[in-house]
Amino acid sequence: MAPTMDNNTTTITTVEIIKEMPEEAHPMKGGDDLNSYSQNSCYQKGVIEAAKAVIVEAVHEKMDLENNIITTFDPSKPFRIADFGCSTGPNTFFAMQNIVEVVDNRYKSLLKNQQVEFHVYFNDHANNDFNMLFRSLPQNRDYFAAGAPGSFYSRVFPKASLHFAHCSYALHWLSKVPKEIQDKNSPAYNKGRIHYTGTEKQVVKAYFSQFQKDLDSFLKARAQEIVGGGLMVIQIPGLPSGEVLFSRTGAGMLHALLGSSLMDLVNMGIISEESVDSFNLPQYHPSIEELEMLIEMNGSFTLEKIGALNHPMKNLAFDAQMTSLQVRAIMEGILTKQFGDKILDQLFEIYTNKLQENYIVFDKEIRKDADLFLILKRKIN
Ligand SMILES: C[S@@+](CC[C@H](N)C(=O)[O-])C[C@H]1O[C@@H](n2cnc3c(N)ncnc32)[C@H](O)[C@@H]1O
Repeated sequence: MAPTMDNNTTTITTVEIIKEMPEEAHPMKGGDDLNSYSQNSCYQKGVIEAAKAVIVEAVHEKMDLENNIITTFDPSKPFRIADFGCSTGPNTFFAMQNIVEVVDNRYKSLLKNQQVEFHVYFNDHANNDFNMLFRSLPQNRDYFAAGAPGSFYSRVFPKASLHFAHCSYALHWLSKVPKEIQDKNSPAYNKGRIHYTGTEKQVVKAYFSQFQKDLDSFLKARAQEIVGGGLMVIQIPGLPSGEVLFSRTGAGMLHALLGSSLMDLVNMGIISEESVDSFNLPQYHPSIEELEMLIEMNGSFTLEKIGALNHPMKNLAFDAQMTSLQVRAIMEGILTKQFGDKILDQLFEIYTNKLQENYIVFDKEIRKDADLFLILKRKIN
């Protein structure tokens, strides 16, 4: 609480103190070795490539530069961009360079003789490999760079300090596993599986409810940080349109086979059944309808556009080995926390074989997965 002078009377106003909520953090595999995220994230890179056109459209059609050039988008002050859930690179660098170039071109078309400066903030959990990120920052970048550690489900930036927010392939990570699904006495107890399939109603409900809370926290925090009229572009793996069960998507099947590979280790006596029963992935893949409803309920942003991206890798044949390496780079942290790192090589050998055995199914189903994009604009209060 801080006393402030208001209309010549002393009033007490609440100063919002930003405390990071205690929550789970599962950063991607750091470094740049063969199993690292930086070497195994070409699917996420494809998402960023596919979203390039979305960013161009957002900046050209949704950012009202002309009418706010001496206020919100004053070119004598830095234009501030943040990437929420940036990981270690290099994907975040492609995304940030693209945003900088598109915004810079718009400024240039309006102001012939003024050079706008850009400040890019890279956000992720504090235990993300930021050293790797900073070491590999592009030499020829057109922006100043800074790290912004902390969960994006809390405040990360000061009020009205960002002009553009970006978040790719990160918002499907929940702040925690919903507690009901780990409670043996709850109807939502998720025994024998590590994720939801879409048929166990109580389990899906618990996951959705956690996603609803988390997305609302994310939007509330960003609503404070983004200037009125500022934009946010999000890419998130989602559920394809129609009555599709998560278990029938490529992502759902990847998770189910990871669960069954863990069960193979149980049957071989390497890990306990109890350890698998108490392990669940904190991820939710929303539908377009769910996102529309939650953004509307939050009320701080207008949803300017939502849709599915045309991912370039969907035209390529399914590659079991590469997919296994990608899943390992994402999941190694969370698996190590639960089972230790000794099981990893064996687990992913089993997993790769299972992916290979199911080649035909994956080759078909992965194509149907929906990589969703959203363009949001901060309402002007
Ligand atoms: C799959 S990676 C995506 C990285 C990058 N955006 C890309 O497209 O390659 C997801 C990232 O989101 C981060 N993440 C997940 N939950 C987060 C949270 N609550 N706050 C900040 N970062 C988070 C993870 O640590 C991870 O680095």
